[in-house]
Formats: sequence, C-alpha cells, structure tokens
Amino acid sequence: MAGQGPRIVVCPGSYDPVTNGHLDIIGRAARVFDRVVVGIVGNAPRKAGHLFTPEERKVFIEQALATNGVENVEVRVFRNLLVDFARECGATAIVKGLRAISDFEYEFEMNQLNRKLAEDIESVYILASPDYSFIRSSGVKEIAEFGGDVSDLVPKPVSDALVERLKR
Ligand code: PNS
Repeated sequence: MAGQGPRIVVCPGSYDPVTNGHLDIIGRAARVFDRVVVGIVGNAPRKAGHLFTPEERKVFIEQALATNGVENVEVRVFRNLLVDFARECGATAIVKGLRAISDFEYEFEMNQLNRKLAEDIESVYILASPDYSFIRSSGVKEIAEFGGDVSDLVPKPVSDALVERLKR
C-alpha cells in the first residue's frame, strides 16, 4: 500500500463526555495512523439524553489532546452517515475501541451496516487497555449524578463540568 498518501482514520462516537478510555484509544490510533479525525455525532443533545452539546464535547476532547501533546488528531462534529463523514475526511478506515465481549454484538452489527453502505471503508478495532476496560460515559455520568468521584475516569475539565452540570 506504499505511495497512497497519508493514512487517515475516523474515530467516531458520542463522547458525552470523553473518558480516559476514549483518550487511550484515540492516542493509540494516533500512533498507528498518520492522521486521526475524532468524529462526534452531532444529534440534538436532548434527543438521545445527552448531557453536553456536541460543541462542548468537542472542546473537552481538544483540551485533553492539547494537554497530552497529541498533534495529529483533529476533532469534528458530524451530522451525516458515518461512512459519508469518513469519505469527507479522506479516511480509509473507521477505528473503534472494544472493551469487552458485551461490546462485540453491537459493534458487529454496526460493522455489517457500514460495510453494506460502503465496503471500501474498513473498520479497525483497538482493544481497551485493562486500566480502562470498565469505563463508559453512561457509568461516569451516573457516578457523578450520585455525587461520586470521577476524577480518575475523565480529564479534570470534564469532571469539573460534570459536577457543575449535575448539581442538584
Ligand atoms: O459512542 P457511540 O454512541 O457508541 O457512537 C455511535 C456512533 C456515533 C458510532 C454511531 O451512532 C454512528 O455511526 N452514527 C452516525 C450515523 C450512522 O452512520 N449510522 C449508521 C451506522 S450503524
């Protein structure tokens, strides 16, 4: 595959909010590929029960990447089909993180749908590091909602924002 130009991939997700587990996958993708575009699905925040707007979620990820010194990653909000967004970005693949077998069934279905829509866009999976395999955004939000400490699970600006947003 030499001589084909930079290898660009898309890391899609809701990122409501970004967790240390997401950042681990993004950072590892950034070491393997030339350029990573983090794609935040930009549906109406309330519709899917989202806590943060897509733009807020974008700022959290950009802040964390700057703190971690990751340079070949760009963050964009998308509101179309993932495969169309991947094409717009010039990406040849979608990169997703897999935590446990419980993720597999959902990801398998998404994989088949995306393949049906665009068989030239490959999907690639990075297995979660053991340190992060239990973290998901919904769990983080639930802990924060009940006043638990999430500072080890998400970047500091995110934990601060969660405390602020979920203040009763
Ligand atoms: O973090 P999530 O919620 O698991 O991410 C889901 C995401 C954004 C990858 C998925 O909802 C998606 O791809 N949405 C874009 C619309 C689309 O292309 N849907 C068909 C793919 S199954």
